[in-house]
Amino acid sequence: MEISLKRSSRGLLVGKTGSGKSFLGLHLLDAVSGPILAVDTKWSASLGKAAQERGWPTVSKVPDEWEGGILWRPEAEMLANPYELDAVLDDLVIRHEICTVYIDELYQLHKNGRAGPGIIGLWTRGREMGFTVLAATQRPAWVSTFCLTESDQYYIFTLTLPDDRKKLAEALGCPEIVPEAVPKHWFWYVLQGHEAVLCQPYQAPKKVLTPAPVNDISEGSKARIVPTLIL
Ligand SMILES: Nc1ncnc2c1ncn2[C@@H]1O[C@H](COP(=O)(O)OP(=O)(O)OP(=O)(O)O)[C@@H](O)[C@H]1O
Ligand SMILES: [Mg+2]
Repeated sequence: MEISLKRSSRGLLVGKTGSGKSFLGLHLLDAVSGPILAVDTKWSASLGKAAQERGWPTVSKVPDEWEGGILWRPEAEMLANPYELDAVLDDLVIRHEICTVYIDELYQLHKNGRAGPGIIGLWTRGREMGFTVLAATQRPAWVSTFCLTESDQYYIFTLTLPDDRKKLAEALGCPEIVPEAVPKHWFWYVLQGHEAVLCQPYQAPKKVLTPAPVNDISEGSKARIVPTLIL
């Protein structure tokens, strides 16, 4: 089975700390083309390393436009006010700066469990406008029900806290796939309208170098790295 982040979709990675959300999220992003904004409110060392490996610059402010991936690490002052962070995303939506947005911890863009206009805009108008959104959270109980119900694909790892499991199960309407424990790095993949599938740990593909076709060779052309998702 192949899983991928569908273009213009809203994906949600859910699971306790260390369950494998960022690992899978980053590999899903490898299959995405166009600009990517990775929001790193946790200033995560592993995310920093992953960004470096991908050649993504780290920025403290989101530029007006960019190519490829960027890792946005907001300054401490901004981190203290989730709606200031949200306003940056709102601005992207307002400016139609179409990109893929990856949010490494979604509850940090919520205030008292409520999403602001940026998140709501991405989740409601995002599809039509062409934004692809992927967000991870270890505490669905602190995320708005809106984000939980309005996503269209889910990657659900082990959740240990009962309030997290309850909220997600209620939002999805299927308690059996919100497990207390699945084996390490296993996850349920749920695509709206399809049966849930229990997946083994995602295996990082060996990078396949595909030479550019002969008629494509021009100065500056590069071999392409084709990420594949193997389950
Ligand atoms: N499928 C996998 N195969 C091999 N290693 C994995 C896999 N998934 C995750 N890991 C490793 O497990 C560790 C934790 O994974 P990851 O950082 O993705 O967890 P997380 O759910 O994002 O945690 P947190 O909520 O703390 O950010 C990392 O060292 C990562 O490389
Ligand atoms: Mg993580």
